[in-house]
Amino acid sequence: MRNIVLIGFMGTGKSTVGRRLAQSLAWNFADTDCEIGEVTKLSVSEIFRRHGETRFRSEERIVVDRLSQEDKLVIATGGGTVLNPVNWEALAKNGIIISLYATLEVILNRIGHKNDRPLLKSSREEIEKLWLVRQPYYEKADFTVDTTLKTIDEVVSEILAQLGRMAIHEFSRVAKN
Ligand code: S3P
Repeated sequence: MRNIVLIGFMGTGKSTVGRRLAQSLAWNFADTDCEIGEVTKLSVSEIFRRHGETRFRSEERIVVDRLSQEDKLVIATGGGTVLNPVNWEALAKNGIIISLYATLEVILNRIGHKNDRPLLKSSREEIEKLWLVRQPYYEKADFTVDTTLKTIDEVVSEILAQLGRMAIHEFSRVAKN
């Protein structure tokens, strides 16, 4: 039995979609950022501010290894998680990797006003660079869902349908309902 791993840039809906997808499948759900928060007792912003990104990435590495070993778990990753090939390998070994995409315009509309993502504190040009540089990583997923003009439910339905098309027994049963 495998996990379902959601990857993609910040603001593509990984956590919201992941939680809803897990409900539909009656699977458990985990969010790497929340897990890191529980372990460190600090928010993502606090870790970045007090200890720097390097510390955050090493906490993320440990969390990824732990979650990768579970079964029937929907995992929402952080936007930078799969840039580390070791994380990718661990997640892909025991999971289907699904990328959620959105245009930068929509992403900034969704989360540009929020204050909880240290990497969004830079200029629009910098964020665009980051978004562009990361697309090739996300494109390596087993499949991608464009969330740009879709509701959460529509994204979840599309994932279930795609999993069904992949003829994975457990999923096709759910997708037909
Ligand atoms: C990050 C994305 C964030 C969080 C951290 C770093 C990134 O998660 O892990 O701020 O490198 O893109 P979300 O993608 O859930 O916002």
